[in-house]
Amino acid sequence: MTELKIVLLEGDGIGPEVVSEAVKVMDLLEEQTDLTFAVERADFGGASLDHHGEPLTDATVSLVKDADAVLLGAVGGPKWDDLPPDSRPERGLLRLRAEMGVFANLRPARFFDSLSDSCPLRPELTKDVEFLFVRELIGGIYFGEPRGISAEEGVRRGVSTMVYDENEIRRVGRVAFEIAQRRKKHLVSVDKANVLEVQRLWREVMSELSADYPDVTLEHLYVDNCAMQLVTRPGQFDVVVTGNMFGDILSDAAAAMTGSLGMLPSASIGASGGLFEPVHGSAPDIAGQGKANPLAMILSLGMLLEHSGGRADLAALIHESVNAVLGRGFRTLDIASHGGGEGERVVGTVEMGAAVLEECRARLAQK
Ligand code: IPM
Ligand code: MG
Repeated sequence: MTELKIVLLEGDGIGPEVVSEAVKVMDLLEEQTDLTFAVERADFGGASLDHHGEPLTDATVSLVKDADAVLLGAVGGPKWDDLPPDSRPERGLLRLRAEMGVFANLRPARFFDSLSDSCPLRPELTKDVEFLFVRELIGGIYFGEPRGISAEEGVRRGVSTMVYDENEIRRVGRVAFEIAQRRKKHLVSVDKANVLEVQRLWREVMSELSADYPDVTLEHLYVDNCAMQLVTRPGQFDVVVTGNMFGDILSDAAAAMTGSLGMLPSASIGASGGLFEPVHGSAPDIAGQGKANPLAMILSLGMLLEHSGGRADLAALIHESVNAVLGRGFRTLDIASHGGGEGERVVGTVEMGAAVLEECRARLAQK
């Protein structure tokens, strides 16, 4: 019997809808495996602002620090868009990541064959492509000081600071090298060392680290070049490590290439406890309509099982189930071909969740 202490933060927009599909998969796993989940829920993001006046309360911080893993839906929405940066829902997310100390954010981009129609790149470019972004998550320009907007003699001036010390670079670098060792032993480090000093240090530290991982080939790419290579030759990538902001930008591009932002899960890990969230946002335009794609959320649960529960087998089972359901033509709107592809069945959030659930159930029964 393994019990995992999980905190559910549904958040805003489509968050609650997609989390609820992942919870059904958790219930199935409790029924069919020796895993049990001790689940607590808390308000987060805009929902927490509305109820408690801040996007993340201290009580929730203590709850998550005590948990094995946090499963998070999404934060933000137009209702809170006019608030100053310090009280926006997004600030709650940044604080959550920082409080949990999850410095390495793993964002796998996998191309599902059956989605090649909704993928903006030509199928021959994306066939069998599978790579992993390792994004530094609790440093860099997202957290650097000084920051702020001030006014001097009637002229407003905005400042954000990109700063990394070598320890911050090294700890995320080690995670990336270790993952690369278990995969194709090829690591690309992305920086802007030709212009920014902080990025020159990034490159230096990554190069120094590579001495400890002689079996891994390290390559450096400038971020602009990487953006181009991602869309022209995605097949060359296996593991990519980069800083907070570049990782934010490039991983959205990677997500869109897989057919939809609604397909990509993520895991954020650190010294202890993990945070698992889909890469997509709260999609306020479709919230509450039952249209959202729950697959990234369900796949994030898969990553939780692997990283916090040591159950890579169940992560694989979830992945294969998603693949099978897509193969049978199930599509939420975001991944449906324009005009409706042949053999496609456009479904809502709950139907998609149910299809994956039944597929998981059938596969668990065969085990
Ligand atoms: C992401 C999101 C967040 C980020 C926002 C919502 C703060 O875009 O997880 O990629 O920039 O990290
Ligand atoms: Mg982002």
